[in-house]
Amino acid sequence: MEIPVPNPVKKVPIHLQSSQNRVLIKNGKLVNHDTMVDNDIFIEDGIVKMIGRNLVIPGGTRVIDASSMLVLPGGIDPHTHFELEFMGAISVDDFYQGTKAAIAGGTTMIIDFVLPNKDESLIDTYQKWRSRATNKVCCDYGLHVAVTSWSKQTKQEMEELCNKHGVNSFKVFMAYKGVFMLNDSELYNTFEACKELGALPMVHAENGDIVHENSIRLLKSGINGPDGHALSRSEDVETEALNRACTIANQVGSPLYIVHIMSKPAADALKKHRNEQINRCGKSNIFGETLAAAVGTYWDKNKLTCWNDAAAHILSPPLRNDPYTPTYLLEMLANGNLQTTGSDNATFSSEQKAIGKGDFTKIPNGVNGVEDRMSVIWEKGVVSGLLSPCKFVEITSTNTAKIFNIFPRKGCIAVGSDADIVVWNPNAKRTISSKTHHQAVDYNIFEGMEVHGVPEYVLVGGRVCLDEGNLKVVQGHGKFIPTPPHADFVYGNENVNEESNDQQDYPQDNLKPTALKISPASSVTSEISNCSKSPMIHTGRAMRMEGQRDLQSSSFSISSDSNDVKKSSIRVRNPPGGQSKGFW
Ligand code: URP
Ligand code: ZN
Ligand code: ZN
Repeated sequence: MEIPVPNPVKKVPIHLQSSQNRVLIKNGKLVNHDTMVDNDIFIEDGIVKMIGRNLVIPGGTRVIDASSMLVLPGGIDPHTHFELEFMGAISVDDFYQGTKAAIAGGTTMIIDFVLPNKDESLIDTYQKWRSRATNKVCCDYGLHVAVTSWSKQTKQEMEELCNKHGVNSFKVFMAYKGVFMLNDSELYNTFEACKELGALPMVHAENGDIVHENSIRLLKSGINGPDGHALSRSEDVETEALNRACTIANQVGSPLYIVHIMSKPAADALKKHRNEQINRCGKSNIFGETLAAAVGTYWDKNKLTCWNDAAAHILSPPLRNDPYTPTYLLEMLANGNLQTTGSDNATFSSEQKAIGKGDFTKIPNGVNGVEDRMSVIWEKGVVSGLLSPCKFVEITSTNTAKIFNIFPRKGCIAVGSDADIVVWNPNAKRTISSKTHHQAVDYNIFEGMEVHGVPEYVLVGGRVCLDEGNLKVVQGHGKFIPTPPHADFVYGNENVNEESNDQQDYPQDNLKPTALKISPASSVTSEISNCSKSPMIHTGRAMRMEGQRDLQSSSFSISSDSNDVKKSSIRVRNPPGGQSKGFW
């Protein structure tokens, strides 16, 4: 299995063998999901090495002045479809163009979907995706694998993917009848296999039979334009499928992640199931994702009057025509009823969309978002006052890292984390446009939206890939990030839960950080829980000069119990990045 093991003594990759392997981000406000503190960050060899003020750093270190800026963990987009062959077309953003655009917008990791046809092997298709991605990716990536048919072989391949190939999530479709859709027994079997493996089932929740019958009826009645798409798949059709998927998960006793929740009733149904379906720690094991598209725009029939514009806005489930849906979904994110935000980036050019002229069922489904997700959510969420900067971090990176079991390597800025960092200028503005975006697609569903909140610098694995707003990406720089099974955050960890001492109020939210146990201060490693607050532990003592106060250990304590540092640590069942020794 190819699992890159982070190791402090490993050889420095060629592209980092320069002063660029050391960066100090100074004078910024460091925002994690649980804290916002003035702190400097010293990065070496792709890893965050020290956090604090007045750090003593080696000569030759590049210094980035982040005065009046926020310093955030790089965004993690849990839902992309790069170079996806779908509905007679191949999405135009490939792993190069897509990840380049991601970085331009402040995203440093994406998780794409391996999508086998019904007769294809999961492993072969996974290998196909790895070889497509490996030399192209500018940022890190992970993979979910879709289960589009069910047999004994499917289960064996799921096991192999989990145990040998770094895949801990499997997506099923309740829509796209005859192509990817599974029936309820197949869903049941897939969820059961996921439970046995400690993996996470994901579901596209729409009733594909109803969509199919409605589409025939609409076409027969002469409705063949883009409007027909949403008419064939109403909010009820989404909500019914979501309820059914949660019911099946409940029968099986498996967790479940619902992708792209697009409507108010579906979000309400998710909230209900989250309250009812819990893991062994008494926390919900049902998770919901919504999209930048869903919070950034809606189906405004007064604006979407021309065929091209309307077709460009088609995705499944569809954008709803209710102008209050975006705010409702943002409120659901704010109060913890929804957990993550993706882009579902599946971009088809105007020419490709035109395949569906005269028959809306043939319009390739999908929209842009990988580049603008962070800015759109910042604008609609933080600038509008619905989300705090911490909550923004939680729903754009931390929760995804926790759910897919790569926290705290990803999803926070802490000593030992990958240096995937965005220096975010909350005072700058830009206007979104297909003329200036970095995506391959010739359309942008957020066209003309003015957004405050612009990335000035983006570091991917310590490398400055966006530098004062200028893109300096390197094709192939991104790594495959294995996602190990048995995520504590999903399956629960009794030890961690028992020790929880967090007093913050997280209404109906299983994302409440649990107690972090730190190894004795003298230890060079610190073992931490996957369900934890941002670990802020290792003080980089080797670099502290005699007599200098260790500022890092003072301002950013993560425990309400001052004795915590003296207690012995909790062992991580699945440390981020695999079973590496010596990193944590
Ligand atoms: O319309 C969409 N969402 N296209 C991409 C495929 C999917 O269903 O996620
Ligand atoms: Zn989908
Ligand atoms: Zn999708």
